[in-house]
Amino acid sequence: MKKKLFSILLVIAMVFTLSACGGGGGNNEPASNEPSDQPAASGENLKVGVSMPTQSLQRWNQDGSNMKQQLEAQGYEVDLQYAGDNDIPTQVAQLENMISTGCQVLVIAAIDGTSLTNVVDSAKDAGIAVIAYDRLIMNTDGVAYYATFDNTLVGRMQGEYIRDTLDLDNTSGPYNLEMFTGSPDDNNIVFFFGGALEVLQPYIDSGKLVVPSGQTERDQCAIQSWSSEIAQSRMENLIAAQGYGPNGTKLDAVLCSNDSTAQGVTTALKNAGYTADNFPIITGQDCDKPSVINMKQGTQSMSVFKDTRTLAARVVLMVDSILKGTEPELNDTETYDNGTGVIPSFLCDPVVGTIDNYKELLIDSGYYTEADVTPEE
Ligand code: GAL
Repeated sequence: MKKKLFSILLVIAMVFTLSACGGGGGNNEPASNEPSDQPAASGENLKVGVSMPTQSLQRWNQDGSNMKQQLEAQGYEVDLQYAGDNDIPTQVAQLENMISTGCQVLVIAAIDGTSLTNVVDSAKDAGIAVIAYDRLIMNTDGVAYYATFDNTLVGRMQGEYIRDTLDLDNTSGPYNLEMFTGSPDDNNIVFFFGGALEVLQPYIDSGKLVVPSGQTERDQCAIQSWSSEIAQSRMENLIAAQGYGPNGTKLDAVLCSNDSTAQGVTTALKNAGYTADNFPIITGQDCDKPSVINMKQGTQSMSVFKDTRTLAARVVLMVDSILKGTEPELNDTETYDNGTGVIPSFLCDPVVGTIDNYKELLIDSGYYTEADVTPEE
């Protein structure tokens, strides 16, 4: 009789022990998906690796410093690395080092979204959560979450700016357009270029918009590494082949998916004799300082502002949630399939920036000072 009572008491004790670890099955799932009211377990030597692609393009310097500052303010240790000037082997080696030196979370802006499969797989095997930052990392289920801006909307904004500025719905045209997008190894261009063509393709199909070069496919318009120099060279070739110029073949608009390519296109057009009085419409993205200056000087028409402080803050929230064992806030669980399935994402909102609103958008918000976007005498 005593043995039976002891066995019953032993079973009861075991049941209580398991439920205190968050449920049975030892699956380490959090006891509940409800965000705990506990603050992030910061200050417990929790370390976050932040991997940025380059310092040669302005925005990534701001992304990195914003994240480092905001994560350290939360009490995390931060290992921030820049992979040379878009050097893939360097980025892989830096990530391997982050894994081996005890980072619990990795935040990665990939140089080439297809080049990190193995290292992200090894991060997952090591129990390290990976957040893809602004650029999706492909072909690995080691990516836990994706934090970016609404990239399709960025493209749509650029297409709509061209549509509305040329007043395509109320004028007959035809108007001449050339198109530039970003690096072929950056999954984002699928959405930037695709979003712009969602707006512009019907006008190309109707003949109201004409692309004289005939280069309308994404891979024909792609610019390796988003390089200003490569964009300038391609624009120079188009000018030579099509005879674009203030007194030559008319060029009404150039779709550029970001500011660094817009800057290269702008240099080529200036060298061909265009001035602020007759410059084609030029779109961009990132509100880089040189492009804001070009907007003030009347050459670049618009950019799209993606406040890196906003994206950094979102990533900090994701890191906190992950390390507290809760699911981060997400607003897109359908769009971004990285080849292994849809990666749950949070998309921040981009905003059109022009000469008319740059002060409110960039100066009043403290993102830049007026001196930052004033050309040196
Ligand atoms: C993209 C990013 C753009 C721009 C570009 C150049 O991935 O979404 O905002 O920064 O890279 O680096």
